[in-house]
Amino acid sequence: ALTGKGNHRHFMEKELHEHPAVLGDTLRQYLEPSSRSVALPELPFDAAAIPSLTISACGSAFLAGQVGKYWIEQYARVPVEADVASEWRYRDPPLPKGGAAILVSQSGETADTLAALKLLKERGQTTLSVVNVPESSMARLADAALLTVAGPEIGVASTKAFTAQLMVLACLALGMGRARGTIDDATAATLTAALLEVPEHAAEILERDQEIQALAVEVAKARDVLFLGRGALFPIAMEGALKLKEISYIHAEGYAAGEMKHGPIALIDQAVPVIALAPSGPLFEKTVSNLQEAAARGGRIMAFTDAIGAPVLRGFAEHVVELPVVDAFAAPILHAIPVQLLAYHVAVLKGTDVDQPRNLAKSVTVE
Ligand code: G6P
Repeated sequence: ALTGKGNHRHFMEKELHEHPAVLGDTLRQYLEPSSRSVALPELPFDAAAIPSLTISACGSAFLAGQVGKYWIEQYARVPVEADVASEWRYRDPPLPKGGAAILVSQSGETADTLAALKLLKERGQTTLSVVNVPESSMARLADAALLTVAGPEIGVASTKAFTAQLMVLACLALGMGRARGTIDDATAATLTAALLEVPEHAAEILERDQEIQALAVEVAKARDVLFLGRGALFPIAMEGALKLKEISYIHAEGYAAGEMKHGPIALIDQAVPVIALAPSGPLFEKTVSNLQEAAARGGRIMAFTDAIGAPVLRGFAEHVVELPVVDAFAAPILHAIPVQLLAYHVAVLKGTDVDQPRNLAKSVTVE
């Protein structure tokens, strides 16, 4: 089972279909089933007392960290600085006394992230790693480790490990918010319920495979692709673009929807589909108005939304994929799945080596 693809054509496809199980297993690790409340193991830092938090990672793990930044700032009210490890380690930013840091990594061996971890420790920061490999260097060297329960990931482009990282960071934001008193009982109940629904919703999304395949047929013809999102969906837009580049070799960019008018709007034409991550919620209207700007310039809008957002988007979008309606907290986790699926199907249509894309390595252990 460890090395087999089962009935799947690629490891990536197999791993995509493991989302419901992996998200459930990871959630159960950090959630008390009886009380339905988040139960983190003892953290190496006092969540109520830390002045700020640094998050450092590479690739998709960095983008998970970026979502973590949005969540921790919003719900735990801790200022978070997130940066790619290759930049962070040479930037020499000022670090507060009593500060803490999170390193996110599937392998736990990525050279830049490992170097950032060592540097953070030298600089007196308390470190927490979010890793998938329990015996990895980062699991051992950090003051504590929160494990993603994703199982082995063979496909070079991360899928289930990425969403498992999001799940751990969501639980961490919730747990820290509780410890700091920034999340009240009612909000905690709502957010916990939202996370508990994620595995089931992940399974529903995987059943929409045909629809995403149809979308992939259009995307496969593109020269460039623009992914747009706002708030915690912005890092997911970047993840969608990263995944598409990695395995289909189509040029793609992930952009903050509100920033589109400062550059990418110049690219918009029939050959550049705009893929929107636009769930209903506090930023929905703002995102819609950005998408309308793109549509008005001849852009072809392909949107991931939910039943509440769909009627609005159908007014001007070429494709609308309806995902389950969830609390805004859980939306980034659920939107990550269809963008991964889309990249997968585009790559299959392009005939690339999905599991072993050219020039990429599963774990980059040299600088
Ligand atoms: C490589 C992989 C990516 C991964 C990144 C970080 O680039 O292709 O999928 O996100 O490394 O790896 P890590 O093991 O630290 O999560």
